[in-house]
Amino acid sequence: MSRLVLHERNRPYAVKVGDQEVHICGCGLSANKPFCDGTHKKTLDEKDKLFFYDKSGNRVEMDSFYNNP
Ligand code: FES
Repeated sequence: MSRLVLHERNRPYAVKVGDQEVHICGCGLSANKPFCDGTHKKTLDEKDKLFFYDKSGNRVEMDSFYNNP
């Protein structure tokens, strides 16, 4: 069974761990979860559109959250 998960955030969360700051992925696309790997930069032009990202990082614009690409 698979699930579609909607992520609206397009940048990481900055979290203090001791005296260091780490960046936690907020976009859902990082290959190094839970940490940000910079992949969120692909999402910066999404604006109000909705996209599906496949495992290779390719994206398809969707009409709604419930339509499969
Ligand atoms: S926030 Fe997801 S890769 Fe940076």
